[in-house]
Amino acid sequence: MTTSDLDNRHASPSAAPALSAEQLERMANELFSVLPGGNDVAAMTAQQAAEHPRALNCATRLAGQPGSAEAAPIVPDAPGEDEMLKALARQMKTLDHAPLNGMSGSSFYFLDEIRPFDLHPEVSSPGNAHPPFDVHAVRRDFPILRERVNGRPLIWLDNAATTQKPQCVIDRIAHFYQHENSNIHRAAHELAARATDAYEAARDTVARFLHAPSSDEIVFVRGTTEAINLVAKSWGRQHIDKDDEIIITWLEHHANIVPWQQLCVETGARLRVAPVDDDGQVLLDEYEKLFSSRTRLVAFTQVSNALGTVTPARQMVEIAHRHGARVLVDGAQAVSHMRVDVQALDCDWYVFSGHKIFGPTGIGAVYGKRDVFNGTAPWQGGGNMIKDVTFEHTQYHQAPTRFEAGTGNIADAVGLGAALEYMEKLGMENVGRYEHELLVYATRGLKTIPGLRLIGTAADKASVLSFVLEGFTTEEVGSALNKAGIAVRSGHHCAQPILRRFGVEGSVRPSLAFYNTFQEVDVLVETVRTLQSRSTNLKY
Ligand code: ALA
Repeated sequence: MTTSDLDNRHASPSAAPALSAEQLERMANELFSVLPGGNDVAAMTAQQAAEHPRALNCATRLAGQPGSAEAAPIVPDAPGEDEMLKALARQMKTLDHAPLNGMSGSSFYFLDEIRPFDLHPEVSSPGNAHPPFDVHAVRRDFPILRERVNGRPLIWLDNAATTQKPQCVIDRIAHFYQHENSNIHRAAHELAARATDAYEAARDTVARFLHAPSSDEIVFVRGTTEAINLVAKSWGRQHIDKDDEIIITWLEHHANIVPWQQLCVETGARLRVAPVDDDGQVLLDEYEKLFSSRTRLVAFTQVSNALGTVTPARQMVEIAHRHGARVLVDGAQAVSHMRVDVQALDCDWYVFSGHKIFGPTGIGAVYGKRDVFNGTAPWQGGGNMIKDVTFEHTQYHQAPTRFEAGTGNIADAVGLGAALEYMEKLGMENVGRYEHELLVYATRGLKTIPGLRLIGTAADKASVLSFVLEGFTTEEVGSALNKAGIAVRSGHHCAQPILRRFGVEGSVRPSLAFYNTFQEVDVLVETVRTLQSRSTNLKY
């Protein structure tokens, strides 16, 4: 089933939706748990509703269109169903439908999209601090989501590799080049002031977004990779000696392995690796056992890009500090899925990339504690980072400009600021809650496919579903999905060690964002299922 099939179904009330019992049960549960009095709806339990798709269809349409029972033709096709449908219709009409009236789109969207936070703003926005989460409204903010690929609507499930950009980010960058473009910090003219203000306002936004104590603790860099290299090649070179130890985990992507390996080769330090369990979660006891009097630094990811594991970051930082080590947390895969608070984490550095959080490529940030930053000599020299230069001696600025030599990526920093403001408006709790439901739903769907093995099944996960399909290479699955308009990453995801820990060289990796829908997940699952059944048919 494609999303256009789904759209057609929306437009045609008489078309019977080909939904699985599981989907129906989910909708029934949601419907009956969110409608006032919904729990009392006749003897219609969620289980019964799941067995009577048309009853649910009818109930849902009535709920979306109060008083329109006649507009929802009911054609019985099973003994007893007619009576049950009529009873249900009567009872649904007596319910208070007020929460449903604010729904965007038609009531047929409601059939497929009904979920607690669509209906109840207060569920998605504790204390009503944010507007209600509406995935269809959100999708309209992302022009690229209207693209078609291979004749099908684009389904972007490669969010762990990079995310799509909302119009406000695209517009902000265009506005910068149309009205503000200048170098920064360097001239008395109007455009220099505008560009500097825009750039520094973006830094303030990053600080606010991460809950950093001060904007001076935010350095703009090219992205996560450059951020980790900055720490390794400045603080690392100055503080790591022969026989010192650096701890990372098996979950790390190459950007959080290679710079430390290079540092170890240069200095004679040792790299130690904390193992994970068979679900892909860090073994905390084993992690703690790695510490010694020589441990100087720990670097680990908050969310694994290959498995989606959310690590117990706060505890890991606390353990490291107890052993006197500094800690870098790699937030590349975390910032777009959960609220980050660097003060609560108490990490020494926190790094992320703009392009993974709906901002531009080529820009990212590193948060560093003020005393750590200012106690570290700069890693690159040049303009912007100096207070005074003579041929004999150079005086450096304090952070952040201490680490921003030369002309940086000004326009994209401004674009990143716009992306983070967009996320603030959506509300990270709303995003996290919606994505969690989507992840649970997708996991359940993929698990029903014979021969599919999920890699990474930790209890605490975000966004990522990694899998292999028996009888198919990851490229074959990726390419079959591409034909259906679905973009996923297949291969090693720049994280070879963790995939090898699970006995594979690569996986297929759908990764979710808040603009993905349950229908898109259905298309993903059905496309993989069809591919799998083809192999079964060939075999027998
Ligand atoms: N680190 C990026 C990924 O996970 C490139 O795909």
